[in-house]
Amino acid sequence: MTLLALETSCDETSAAVVRDGRVLSSAISSQIKVHAEYGGVVPELAAREHLRNLIPVVQTALREAGVQLAQLDAVAATQGPGLPMALLVGFKAAQSVAFTLRKPFVGINHHEAHLYSPWIRSIASPHEPGSAGVPPARMELAGGTPALPAAASGVQCAKIISGNSPSRMAGVRGENVGGIFFADFAAFQPNVSLIVSGGHTMLVRVESELNHRVLGSTVDDAAGECFDKTGKLMGLPYPAGPEIDRLAEQGNPKAYDFPRPLLNDPGDDFSFSGLKTSVRYFLRDHPGILDDTQRIRDLCASIQAAIVEVLVKKTIRAAKRNHVRCVTASGGVTCNRALRRELARACEREHLMLCLAEKSLCTDNAAMIGILAERKLLANIAPTSLDEEINPGWILA
Ligand code: KG4
Ligand code: ZN
Repeated sequence: MTLLALETSCDETSAAVVRDGRVLSSAISSQIKVHAEYGGVVPELAAREHLRNLIPVVQTALREAGVQLAQLDAVAATQGPGLPMALLVGFKAAQSVAFTLRKPFVGINHHEAHLYSPWIRSIASPHEPGSAGVPPARMELAGGTPALPAAASGVQCAKIISGNSPSRMAGVRGENVGGIFFADFAAFQPNVSLIVSGGHTMLVRVESELNHRVLGSTVDDAAGECFDKTGKLMGLPYPAGPEIDRLAEQGNPKAYDFPRPLLNDPGDDFSFSGLKTSVRYFLRDHPGILDDTQRIRDLCASIQAAIVEVLVKKTIRAAKRNHVRCVTASGGVTCNRALRRELARACEREHLMLCLAEKSLCTDNAAMIGILAERKLLANIAPTSLDEEINPGWILA
């Protein structure tokens, strides 16, 4: 089955072509530069950028995959949750393509796509330029890396292409990650999954493929929001998460003691607004810190340590309580090096298998939308009606 997927729920315009569990192409146009000026995502601007970029992004994805519109068997798009006007752009475009081609259409829950994204694996392709830097498949721990399924050999390379505008995208085409991406659901194990992004932080028990139950989520700010807002207090550019990650590498995580909200609460919910407030008061009382580079690094490391400790301890506790042998993680914050490191350490200690989403698939992308849509069609789940509308507040159950 060959499927085109679109993702426009927030500030990335993305299109991917997926065929039989393989990601043939994934084009992403990021709007980060547009929104950075305002210190956060401006919904109206996001919608306008999606409108401007969608067609060139789709054309790039189809071209890189070597697929014509007429060859598509199905079309998918993110239906929710997300910014209403942003969602509308990709969702209505995908429905129109499905209508024109008379092919099935699948509306996807963005979080459900993140949830299964850790099973999309990559291997470096020896044929692609720049592939030497690509990390190998990221099934970590207990038992090592499982053998690749036959489907992985000789497949076309996935091209992850990103840029800030279609014109810039052309300039970075050579930077595709050179990896082969494919959905390795043969390796699936029941797991507890951490979805951690700028808008959401949740723990989900995944019993079997397409069968999951949310255990807990944030009662206020998401972890990514906490990174971004505390970074803003320090004067770091939006989104501050990657910058805090970078500065924290040379900082002392024990320099300052920040609260670990709900760490000892027996439930699976999270709360990060108290941590943000305590950083605000800390900076009010110690304004001189921002004049000293090393103390800024220490502050970043200390904030990051508080967020990571809560995420890791609560995830491991949920995994043990639910008697699963596997932990997975996805969403933008899963790019964070300390989080990846600490999850790996904790899982090793507890003899749990850890399956982290590839970094290029942690942030928003259409590849994960397409992979999930294909699994749903293969599982005979009914396509989404072309009369259906976006669902901006769609909560994963
Ligand atoms: O999944 P995503 O691209 O979009 C949402 O659905 O929100 O996640 C974006 C979030 C932002 O808050 C960003 O600061 C955070 O992920 N993020 C990071 C890192 N990379 C991205 N946070 C901490 N460390 C990182 N390396
Ligand atoms: Zn997301």
